Amino acid sequence: MKHLLSTRDLSREEAITILDVAEDMAEVADREVRKLPALRGRTVVNLFFEDSTRTRISFEAAAKRLSADVINFSAKGSSVSKGESLKDTAQTLAAIGADAVVIRHGSSGAPRVLADSGWIDAPVINAGDGTHEHPTQALLDAFTMRRRLHGAGSRGRDLDGVTVTIVGDILHSRVARSNAWLLTALGASVTFVAPATLLPIGIENWPVTVLYDLDRALAQRPDVVMMLRIQGERMHAAYFPSAREYSRLWGLDDARLAMLAADTMVMHPGPMNRGLEISAGAADSPRSTVLEQVANGVSIRMAVLYLTLSGEGGKQ
Ligand code: NCD
Repeated sequence: MKHLLSTRDLSREEAITILDVAEDMAEVADREVRKLPALRGRTVVNLFFEDSTRTRISFEAAAKRLSADVINFSAKGSSVSKGESLKDTAQTLAAIGADAVVIRHGSSGAPRVLADSGWIDAPVINAGDGTHEHPTQALLDAFTMRRRLHGAGSRGRDLDGVTVTIVGDILHSRVARSNAWLLTALGASVTFVAPATLLPIGIENWPVTVLYDLDRALAQRPDVVMMLRIQGERMHAAYFPSAREYSRLWGLDDARLAMLAADTMVMHPGPMNRGLEISAGAADSPRSTVLEQVANGVSIRMAVLYLTLSGEGGKQ
């Protein structure tokens, strides 16, 4: 695997390879010394043009557990805020000797531009680009589902027959996009539930079922309910009447939580708007996988860094 830009071009086999390597990495987390020498002497740059908590520290922890050196770069406080272009930034990183670049950017497609540019000859890992894709998030979500369903250490398995309902601000969600491609490649069935104003144009061409009524969707008893954050920072118009109205119609509140089967997984990529798309009761319930997702994210990112930097995993 040369780069990881999107889940759209991952085959079932490639996705399972990443999940299986992540199982190996998860075993390292249980050891007394949580470190492997695999990437000793290599430099990973975290290039974050957009805010992030979980994803940035997760990539940092992953690189460090593989003994790589990590440089954290955030656009705020860098020369990017003086107008420096992606090209100049990339060439600077190349001159420093970066071996891999993890990039989060507000513009959809920026990681692809970097990978195809020739400005830097290093694996590029997309850590979220605009409203486009967030492949490592989808991989950690799939990994979390596989572990809850089949147990830790279950290698080689896909998500055949698993039903996943993704609810909320699909329009602005790179998490929903990456999950739609990845989960269906792994054999799961994906349903989107949202108000019509929060669905992207052309949704009928996606490999998903669309429903507009959350209670009807939950009555189908999906294995997984994934709630998405209302992305206020990307909204420049009114997409729903009020926050109260949104949570009444589209929120996973305590009453809806109580209707779910005891083993339904409640997922959220974070950061959560508690009380808006998800109640505190749902976020903190035993069904919730929110903190498992964060922990599993480190294993997935270790696997992706390892596979791209060690040149294993075939393809590209
Ligand atoms: C997501 C993101 O940044 O796309 N968060 C994350 O990476 N954990 C989802 C979001 O911001 O709502």
